[in-house]
Amino acid sequence: MTVLLTGGTGYIGSHTATALSEAGHEVILLDNFCNSHRAILERLEKIVGKSVPCIEGDVRDTALVKRTLQEYGVEVVIHLAGLKAVGESVKTPLNYYENNVHGTLSLLRAMDEADVNNMIFSSSATVYGDPQYLPIDEDHPLAPTNPYGRTKLYIEQILEDHVRANDNIKVVNLRYFNPVGSHSSALLGEDPRGIPNNLMPFMARVASGELKELSVFGDDYPTMDGTGVRDYIHVVDLAEGHVAALEFLPRSTGFETFNLGTGSGFSVLQVIQSYEVACGKKIPYQIVKRRPGDIASCYTDPNKANAVLKWKANRSLSEMCLSSWDFQRRLN
Ligand code: WQD
Repeated sequence: MTVLLTGGTGYIGSHTATALSEAGHEVILLDNFCNSHRAILERLEKIVGKSVPCIEGDVRDTALVKRTLQEYGVEVVIHLAGLKAVGESVKTPLNYYENNVHGTLSLLRAMDEADVNNMIFSSSATVYGDPQYLPIDEDHPLAPTNPYGRTKLYIEQILEDHVRANDNIKVVNLRYFNPVGSHSSALLGEDPRGIPNNLMPFMARVASGELKELSVFGDDYPTMDGTGVRDYIHVVDLAEGHVAALEFLPRSTGFETFNLGTGSGFSVLQVIQSYEVACGKKIPYQIVKRRPGDIASCYTDPNKANAVLKWKANRSLSEMCLSSWDFQRRLN
């Protein structure tokens, strides 16, 4: 199939583009490079062994998106473009609604005008908010606690309404848990601009000596060792989940949601331990107070994606840490 990836040079986008290309699909990227580097494109092309069209632009440029869809004969859009830092979304909510929600409306308009009726949407486990039960399945109540999570929920609801009003539109909605790690080539990985908000890229920079020490946000949570527990999923497993979703799309009934995670939760201290084995060094850290908005535990029940998408995340925490460290070492 011919697939347009919005945000295609980003962390998830570049890994997904690689997996799709290796599965025999034609990929076209659209990116405004607000949170990625142009150098990613040539690394991606080196891995897949062919050129990959990349349009520099913003999903809010409806005319550009429509032209791109028509020019390349796009059949499916994988919509990954969006701002995704929880803390930043609290400080600048209008930017998040403008980029994420308005950007999606613009994209949907362009798809309608170009008669493209299939989308895979990059949503997030953040839509669940503080879990009422664990593991979290797709029927868990939706109660995001920050503007970023609310943009993802509103977009899901827009897509559901759009599908309900048009029986030729199909959407597969993927709720990611915590993507980490890097491609085995060490050419692609997580390299956010500025100081990383997320645990693994921050820890990678502590291991490389770029940052002095890791702050562990609280050790008084009701978890096995008091630190936060999350469902970390290798980004290549996640990318392969998109390939499975694409192959499921023709069979889907309209709007279908899947949690993409391993079903296992690991604490911050367990991740630190695994990373120390991966990089062969001690990771200096200090326990500090909780980060506002954080929750104690979050991990998925992966059964629906396993059964319906015939997809399972199988890379271990150790592989996630080793691949992250391999990529980080290459950066420096
Ligand atoms: C993981 C654990 C922290 C940094 C966020 C978004 C989510 C998704 C993934 C986009 C927590 C602890 C972290 C640090 C720490 N993004 N931590 N020190 O918050 O689970 O999820 O990123 O879709 O939507 O909400 O990920 O990596 O920030 O935190 O102790 O310097 O590590 O408290 O327990 P999070 P994270």
